[in-house]
Amino acid sequence: MVTIHDVAVRAGVSATTVSHVVNGTRPVSPQLSERVQRAMRDLGYQPNALARSLRRKQTHTIGLIVPDNSNPFFAEMAHSVEYAAYGIGHAVVLCNSDDDAEREALYLDLLLKRQVDGIVLVAAATSSDAMRALVERGPPLVVVDRDLANPANDCVLTDHEAGGYAASEHLAQLGHKRIACIAGPSDLESSAGRVAGYRAALRAAGLRVDTSMIVRGDFRDHSGYVAAQKLLKRADPPTAIFACNDLMAIGAMAAVRDAGLSVPEDVSVVGFDDIHIAGYLNPPLTTIAQPTTELGRVATELLLQRMQDRTLPPRRVMLRNRLIIRRTTASAPSRSISYFVE
Ligand code: RIB
Repeated sequence: MVTIHDVAVRAGVSATTVSHVVNGTRPVSPQLSERVQRAMRDLGYQPNALARSLRRKQTHTIGLIVPDNSNPFFAEMAHSVEYAAYGIGHAVVLCNSDDDAEREALYLDLLLKRQVDGIVLVAAATSSDAMRALVERGPPLVVVDRDLANPANDCVLTDHEAGGYAASEHLAQLGHKRIACIAGPSDLESSAGRVAGYRAALRAAGLRVDTSMIVRGDFRDHSGYVAAQKLLKRADPPTAIFACNDLMAIGAMAAVRDAGLSVPEDVSVVGFDDIHIAGYLNPPLTTIAQPTTELGRVATELLLQRMQDRTLPPRRVMLRNRLIIRRTTASAPSRSISYFVE
């Protein structure tokens, strides 16, 4: 293997000079620098990235922990983080916590050991205090999407309650009186905010909030299917469903179909996220669009700034989500239908 000393002999300079050229740790004259570069090319010298990162205390690597990398929302956000990181010469190590606090803490520890330069974190549904403590002593970290309620961290969020309100208000304005909600994991701040918005919108529309019309899912499609089946079997089934994310809305639409009913003629459905596929469904999904790409980009920018200056005061950025009306919502059906689900 070609060493730094072989390059020094070939270029007729000291090994220290070669190291300054490779690591940019001190200015070297253009003539000497060209001799070293030429010797490196001639010999096929590859600087030792690990040794260089230890010297520089930089690995040019960012850790990204998401709760479910199979969810298009997180995949789209990860794409945005990777794109922004690539632009500043950093690689991204993607970790999937699977919404499990223990797995999340293990990945956080692994990233600390690998000395990543910074971490973008979307907290798992059951993030523990131990994880929060681990976050305190780690490298620069930006929390995205799910607030850890830790004022020490930079965070980039969207207004979950306003989104839940807009989704439910849209259904009430269409004349629906029995509006159900399929919620996400109970200990998740993003789901709790959306359910709070749902409750507020129903009250503002003069509708009673029937807690039996709020059914818990886990942010995955099958839980939306099961929750919608349960709602459709009621003696007084809903004519509209607000699902707290698109995957559960897609599951709910399948349950309506399997009950021999149609969206939106019999049941209107609204989701939350606006994942890429939402507009290509049949019918295309009415949903709350999250600024997913912006979330990833802003998080990476805040992280880079924190990596460059750890003394910066914590920043809290709130981005806006918005209602996208497509074709899964319509006026409340005039006829009442008994839903029989096998
Ligand atoms: O789809 C996954 C959900 O979890 C998204 O709505 C996102 O906001 C996250 O909290």
